[in-house]
Formats: sequence, C-alpha cells, structure tokens
Amino acid sequence: MACIIFTMALAILTPGWLRSSVEAICTQAVSWRLTTSTLRHLMLTSIMRSQKKSDHLERTASVLRREVVAAAKVCGTTDESPSVKSLHLLVADTNFSFKAGQWVDFFIPGVSVVGGFSICSSPRLLEQERMIELAVKYTNHPPAVWIHNKCALNSEVAVRVGGEFFFDPQPTDAPRNLVLIAGGVGINPLLSILRHSADLHRERAERGNGYEIGTITLFYSAKNTSELLFKRNILDLVNEFPEKIACRLYVTKQTTQISAELKPYIMEGRMTEKEIRDHISTETLFYICGPPPMTDFFSKQLEKNHVPKEHICFEKWW
Ligand SMILES: NC(=O)c1ccc[n+]([C@@H]2O[C@H](COP(=O)([O-])OP(=O)(O)OC[C@H]3O[C@@H](n4cnc5c(N)ncnc54)[C@H](OP(=O)(O)O)[C@@H]3O)[C@@H](O)[C@H]2O)c1
Ligand SMILES: *[C@@H]1O[C@H](CO)[C@@H](O)[C@H](O)[C@H]1NC(C)=O
Ligand SMILES: *[C@@H]1O[C@H](CO)[C@@H](O)[C@H](O)[C@H]1NC(C)=O
Repeated sequence: MACIIFTMALAILTPGWLRSSVEAICTQAVSWRLTTSTLRHLMLTSIMRSQKKSDHLERTASVLRREVVAAAKVCGTTDESPSVKSLHLLVADTNFSFKAGQWVDFFIPGVSVVGGFSICSSPRLLEQERMIELAVKYTNHPPAVWIHNKCALNSEVAVRVGGEFFFDPQPTDAPRNLVLIAGGVGINPLLSILRHSADLHRERAERGNGYEIGTITLFYSAKNTSELLFKRNILDLVNEFPEKIACRLYVTKQTTQISAELKPYIMEGRMTEKEIRDHISTETLFYICGPPPMTDFFSKQLEKNHVPKEHICFEKWW
C-alpha cells in the first residue's frame, strides 16, 4: 500500500502535473482565491493522510486518473432528497473533461480527507456551460459533512477526473442497447450515462449523423419516493424519447401513500433478477451501481445467464 501512495505522490509532483494543471489553474482562474500553492499543499497533505483504510484515494489508488486538477466553484446547491444534496460546480479550465459515468476526486481547502463523487450531469453540460453536477448523500465522512454543512454559493474546491466505469461511444460505433441498474445514490453515474445518451440522440436528430443510440432501460430502486433522486428528470427523458428510453422505478421502504402522479411509474418491493434477465440480448451492455451486495448480486446473476463479462460494467463504492 505504501508503494501505491508513493507512486501517487510522485505522479502529483512531476513536471507534467505542474505544467498541465497548475498553469491551467493560474490562467483560467486568476480571480479565484484558491492559489496554486494552496492546491498543491492540499493535495500533498491529502495524499499523506490517505493511508487509512476505507479512504477514497486508497480504494481507488490503482484506478485510472486524468492529470488535470482543476479549480471549481460552487454555483448552486439543491436539497435533492431528505439525505442528498446536489451541487453545481463551475469548472473554467477547458482541459478538464470527463466521460459519462466517471467520478471526481474532490479536494476541499481545510479538509484533509479527499472525497470521491460520481458526476451525474452530462459531458455536454460541461462543454457548453462549464458545469458539472454532483449529488452527495449525508454520511459522517468529512467531505460529505462539509458538503452538507459548510459548502455554500461560491465555495472553492478542486476536482480531478478518474474512473474506468463509463459509456463513451464513438460516432461510427454500432448502436448498443443499455440496461442501467441503480440502487440509491448509485444512480449518479448512471444518470450521467442516461443524459449523455439523450444528448447523443438529440445531436443525431439535428445533424443527421453521429452515434445512433440503442434502447436504454433504467432499473432504479430507492428506499422511498423522496429518496428516488432526479425522478422528474428521469421521467422527462422517458417522455421525450419514449421509443428509446424506458425506466422502472422501485421503492422498498415506502411508509406513506405514493402520489397519484408518481404511482403509474413506481413498483413497491425490490427489483428482481427475472425482470433484468428478460432484457438480456447479445448486444446489450449492463451498467450497475448501487450498494455493494446489490451490485454483486446482479453482476453474478448476469454472468450465470451467460452475459459475457465484458458486457457487465459495475462501479462499487463503500
Ligand atoms: N457512484 C456513486 O456516486 C456512489 C456514491 C456513494 C455511494 N455509492 C454506493 O451506492 C450505494 C447506495 O447507497 P444508498 O445508501 O443510497 O442505498 P440504500 O438506500 O441503502 O439502497 C438503495 C436501494 O437499493 C436496494 N437494494 C439493496 N440491496 C439490494 C439487492 N441485493 N437487490 C435489490 N435491491 C437492493 C435497497 O432495497 P432495500 O431497502 O430492500 O435494502 C434500496 O431500495 C452505497 O452503498 C454506495 O456503495 C455510490
Ligand atoms: C491544456 O493542456 C495542454 C497539454 O497538456 C497544454 O498544452 C495547454 O496549455 C493546456 N491548456 C490550458 C488552458 O491550460
Ligand atoms: C423517506 O424516508 C426519509 C428518511 O427515512 C424520510 O425523511 C422521508 O419523509 C420519507 N419520504 C416519504 C415520501 O415517505
């Protein structure tokens, strides 16, 4: 483990890092108070303290990361549910980019623990408005505590993209059907993939070329209807592209009556292996993100049903 941490520290100190990210921060974010040396100090102390188990940096030490560490500024916050707060961040550095499904290392001035959060917005929102969105559940993990209790409009942080769980089809790729399986806040990277697919579909409709999406089915389970994050956004996409996008929403701990408006879209009880199995075909890709036992369960079931391993992608957070 020490070895991995040493490598990461080295990677951060190489001239390549200094060239590509520090300059980017200096030129792009001149007016921001987050200075290069603060950023660097922040990252080094974070790396040194990351030897604790269960830490995001340690868990993901071997996962692919981009070089760019970009300054980011909070430009909006919303209570997405009783336990989840969403943030919109402005990232001016044009060298910062991501693929739908990836996460960011989240560096907070004055907080030594580094957060790791999946981006839930689409790559186009970043390209067009320099904005990314994160939705973070309350836990006692210091970055989540900061986001829920301290973070405000104009707060400054730094972000770096990583992760090998993404959907990034090229214009000439053959259409693939997607089945997205989400549990709780695991919806984040899958919502990014869903939004990206919708963007690709709109672009093809406008220009007559580009990647042709297959069908996308989202299976999404949460404790109750208020914890079903982004349900309006999801239903809007389903209604905009009914021939391409479908969703099945589940609640497992509902104690109140479901509103008449939501009722037609929601099932009570856990999603079952049978419902997912009915969507297996040779050209379908499966993306899973939820509580680890759920991810394990569905990925094993798919394998048992002869879905090739390379068609089953999952992201695990603890
Ligand atoms: N990528 C990301 O952004 C990110 C970030 C943080 C965390 N996560 C991961 O996402 C997980 C979700 O967290 P959460 O607290 O929001 O989840 P949660 O509320 O505990 O569970 C969400 C839903 O998943 C269902 N579920 C759990 N195990 C299942 C199984 N084996 N089969 C079918 N359904 C199952 C639950 O049903 P029951 O009520 O019946 O259990 C519930 O409806 C976390 O544990 C974490 O690992 C992801
Ligand atoms: C982006 O990165 C490239 C390659 O590392 C570098 O040449 C360029 O100056 C960077 N641009 C900005 C705006 O920092
Ligand atoms: C869902 O559960 C949360 C937390 O347990 C609670 O605060 C909320 O009121 C519940 N919402 C509904 C619609 O039951």
